[in-house]
Amino acid sequence: AHVVHFQPRGQDPVLWMSSESRFDDAQPIRGGVPLCWPWFGAHPADSSLPQHGLARLANWEVAKTSQMTGDTTELIMRWGDSAATQQVWPHAFELLMRVCFGEELTLELTISNPGDKAFECATALHTYFAVENIADVTIVGLAGRRFMDQLDNDTVKIQSGSIRIGQEVDRVYLDTEDEVVIEETGRPAIHISKTGSKSTVVWNPWIAKSQRMEDFPDLGYQTMVCVETTNAETDTRVLEPSQSHGIRQLVSRAHPYRCSQLARRRQRLESIKQGRGGRQRSRQRNSRGSSECRTPRSARTNIACCNAPATLRSASPRNSA
Ligand code: BG6
Repeated sequence: AHVVHFQPRGQDPVLWMSSESRFDDAQPIRGGVPLCWPWFGAHPADSSLPQHGLARLANWEVAKTSQMTGDTTELIMRWGDSAATQQVWPHAFELLMRVCFGEELTLELTISNPGDKAFECATALHTYFAVENIADVTIVGLAGRRFMDQLDNDTVKIQSGSIRIGQEVDRVYLDTEDEVVIEETGRPAIHISKTGSKSTVVWNPWIAKSQRMEDFPDLGYQTMVCVETTNAETDTRVLEPSQSHGIRQLVSRAHPYRCSQLARRRQRLESIKQGRGGRQRSRQRNSRGSSECRTPRSARTNIACCNAPATLRSASPRNSA
């Protein structure tokens, strides 16, 4: 259940994929959207266990594929506990990953506990986004949030303003439910919205770590950034028997074609206004750049293609019990 590529028609790829990724069974794919579960980062008690959990190394089965309305394709994949997983993580579980590919990308993971004892888990939709030049990138939507700085012994700090990346960054932002936008000068922004997640990880390995990672090109840090929809740190979830938890991420990009359509529409409106006598005023507005491209509202809010199952019961955040 690893999305490796997403490229809406007529657009550049939205996700970053390492040219050095090995695509073998023994190690995770480097890029796209690896799924981290049931732990995030190193295993809390046994560092010999795989980093970021078991899900991204597992073979899932395809449970359903369907063509939805419009150009959207839906895929549902399933993975559950087995003798092998029980040896490492002794819990019964079922995971369903629903992915909708269309103009937007929706990823929706439902975690269920069919067993007779509770378990605690962390999750990350570890999304690698493609950018043209990290120096031109601003990440908006996390200003004022607390974050745990993983490069400074998890010291809790406050984000001042938007995020610019000019060095290694590895942070878990806390209490984050709002949309995050990856803006890049001269390119359409990428919008990330979510439900079932109150933490967000921002990661860029920068120069030295890129060189250390075997499956990562040395200059790869310049063209990617991870903004991960997570249940990590204070946001891990406890699932009682029969309980489920859904975590969902919607990714959309302001479409250049739609942007130019919008700009043309604005120009038409302006000329109509001019015809009604507002000529002078609208010329002044135009000279201030009134045809600036903004994300269409529908691209920010349309999450209708993959609604969470109505019966989904949300599990408790770790600290709320
Ligand atoms: C991020 C972590 O989510 O994933 C980083 O915060 C980590 O600490 C990165 O380096 C990549 O992890 P991995 O296991 O795919 O190399």
